[in-house]
Amino acid sequence: MSTPVKKVPLHLQSAQNRLLIKHGKIVNVDSVVDGDVYIEDGVIKQVGSNLIIPGGTRIIDARGKYVIPGGIDPHTHLEIEFMGAKSVDDFYRGTKAAIAGGTTMIIDFALPKKGQSLLETYQKYRESADEKVCCDYGLHVGVTWWSDKVREEMEILCKHHGVNSFKTFMAYKDVFMLGDSELFEVFERCKELGAVALVHAENGSIIAKKAQQLLAAGITGPEGHQLSRPEPVEAEAVGRACVIANQVNCPLYIVRVTSKSSAAIVSSVRKQGVVVFGETLASSVGTDGTRQLDKSWLHAAAYVTSPPLRPDPTTPEYLITMLAQDGLQLVGSDNCTFSLDQKAMGKDDFTKIPNGVNGVEDRMSVVWEKGVHSGVMDVKRFVAVTSTNAAKIFNIYPRKGCIAVGSDADIVVWDPVKTRVISAKTHNQAVDFNIFEGMECHGVPEYVIVNGRVCVDEGDLKAVQGFGKFVPTPVYSEYVYEKVKHAEEDATLNAVSVPAVVTKMNELKLDIAVENGGILLEPKLADEAPVSPSAEASLTSCPSSKGQRNLQDSTFSISEELDDTARKSCIRVKNPPGGQSSGGFW
Ligand code: URP
Ligand code: ZN
Repeated sequence: MSTPVKKVPLHLQSAQNRLLIKHGKIVNVDSVVDGDVYIEDGVIKQVGSNLIIPGGTRIIDARGKYVIPGGIDPHTHLEIEFMGAKSVDDFYRGTKAAIAGGTTMIIDFALPKKGQSLLETYQKYRESADEKVCCDYGLHVGVTWWSDKVREEMEILCKHHGVNSFKTFMAYKDVFMLGDSELFEVFERCKELGAVALVHAENGSIIAKKAQQLLAAGITGPEGHQLSRPEPVEAEAVGRACVIANQVNCPLYIVRVTSKSSAAIVSSVRKQGVVVFGETLASSVGTDGTRQLDKSWLHAAAYVTSPPLRPDPTTPEYLITMLAQDGLQLVGSDNCTFSLDQKAMGKDDFTKIPNGVNGVEDRMSVVWEKGVHSGVMDVKRFVAVTSTNAAKIFNIYPRKGCIAVGSDADIVVWDPVKTRVISAKTHNQAVDFNIFEGMECHGVPEYVIVNGRVCVDEGDLKAVQGFGKFVPTPVYSEYVYEKVKHAEEDATLNAVSVPAVVTKMNELKLDIAVENGGILLEPKLADEAPVSPSAEASLTSCPSSKGQRNLQDSTFSISEELDDTARKSCIRVKNPPGGQSSGGFW
């Protein structure tokens, strides 16, 4: 069975098939060059100066602007059915919003439930997406259970359906979560097939236990979600995933690194030669978990996502610096949007709040604002983390992710001076809340060209439903598998101290505090193990919630009713001494 080639109906094809972008600063990962880009029939035909082009070609003046590869968002969940709800941004609204923000390709996830066929799930996503997408898309496929059939279907997907990446979960117990031996099997199979293993790294068993304890202690509001998933629970899983993948020499891609300690582990094991890539998110660099402690239940619930946004407000700066310095390699959105009505499904129990936030539209602007505008990264690195690295890892480079002759004409003319203020009132997404509400962003996509069609024209959105197409991602990405080859050749890798990072966690203090204004990227052994009260012990000393709660109040506000001693005890759990990140492993 092979993937059908989709024909774009004539009326959806670009009326203007020739385009010249003049006088821009053309940015690729390794260069910024003044010049022109000539596009014909959806493909870049010439790049340079004084180009000879046919008459009648439309000209876009990019003077004073950057001409960058269209963004590639490697992590979206459009119309996903998850936690009893279906995400409100479907493949039409989601990709339209993506284009509005300067993203010209997304990679979504076909996630089967346990026992379901990977192939059938993939086909279902294809059928739904092909009709609706305004920009190109690819698919990762989830492996949420293990059997011989799954093994075979992974091969079929790789050989005949343009899939080269499989997503596993160490969280969502009884839903998506795999145990270590299953992870081992999946990673081994990925390696055999030349694929990339993706992992959502959080310790699902610990989360389930902590969630039970919190609910029993009366913590039912959105803050309970954050408390049940502390940083070490993410960091432990990141380390464990690295160890398992390293045993079978499988290239590993950690999705949504949200915490300093996890980012430090990714950075550290990469330096030891382990083939691992770290993705963080627009949400994690653009905002933080303090919003999840808001007194308004709905406001707090809107920020519920997993792993959670971290309450340590220095996290975003740390993560963007990691991105700039190649401790992390790329930034996705994990756009998985649920309306406030849907979020309210968890009004009495935080474990029932559908997890997920927006980001597909604002990812580029947020990274520009926090990265380039703030002076942390240059424009070349911006291109790398928002586009090129995803193209390379998922093996669609140089078709995507660069501005060169022969590449798809997915291009953004980026105005670095113009500003916009993000708001749910004006965004193009279907969701009724925006986690970046009120953020002023310098850097606006003035033109967005998708396969040669001008889909944002002087700021006006003109996306076309069904114009996008599925882009197969072939196995054996040279970018990835060259690294695997080198790692295998390197005899010293057997002695890599990944286990040292991971197995010594109980004694280890990952000192990643911001010191003297600089960020220590390396985990350091602490002089002594941190001495902290256990979260469980402190939690049991918190009085439970009493009476009916209004949706406007999160259980966090309950702490205001506590006497001082009890409050201190609770606050200590929420915000351990020294901060979540620098306090070591609890
Ligand atoms: O909160 C999230 N991330 N929701 C989407 C599902 C996932 O974990 O990717
Ligand atoms: Zn996700």
